[in-house]
Amino acid sequence: MKRPKLQIALDHNTLASALADVKKIGEIVDVIEVGTILCLQEGSKPIECMRKMFPEKTIVADTKCADAGETVAGNVAQAGADFMTVICCASLATMQAAQKKVKALQVELYGEWTMEQAKKWREIGISQVVYHQSRDALLAGEVWGEKDLKLVQQLIDLGFQVSVTGGLSISTLALFQGMPIFHFIVGRGLTACADPIIQAQAFQNEIKRLWGE
Ligand code: 5RP
Repeated sequence: MKRPKLQIALDHNTLASALADVKKIGEIVDVIEVGTILCLQEGSKPIECMRKMFPEKTIVADTKCADAGETVAGNVAQAGADFMTVICCASLATMQAAQKKVKALQVELYGEWTMEQAKKWREIGISQVVYHQSRDALLAGEVWGEKDLKLVQQLIDLGFQVSVTGGLSISTLALFQGMPIFHFIVGRGLTACADPIIQAQAFQNEIKRLWGE
């Protein structure tokens, strides 16, 4: 089974603070995400910066786009993003339009969505989803557990590459052992700790321990 990749979510309010963190750990992680907050605050600029700094890495623009898919996808692709996210309640037309402009489109699974919708996403050629515990759900006391694993497995069975995110810590990773997770997306678990370099290395070591080299 392929080892899951480690994706940092740069959910900073300013490009300057995102740069401070990514300079430390950008080379340790596999994938760099310009998070929703940073996209909203700084537009395309952080995507352009990440592309220049990390020409070989996959760059994700976490726009959680809901409309104007082709325009938004065109803009982030031109800035240097490989992947872009749309929110699961976006219309199929928005998803199809966005898909034309990026290497891969990822559907962000938040709130209400169904496996019937997921089948339709597969039918229009979408192969990536992000299974998400929202910040607000986690704050309201939700935890990762069996219900999540079941849904992730069903999505894998439909043929999706499934990334997971939302309050992940090193100890959460073991829950997914044996599953072909695509990317573990980690924000605060990397950026809000005392030593992001040691922490990023520890995440990578745990992924290797659980999935092999
Ligand atoms: C919020 C996001 C975050 O980027 C993602 O969930 C990672 O954040 P954290 O690890 O800090 O929970 O998409 O909408």
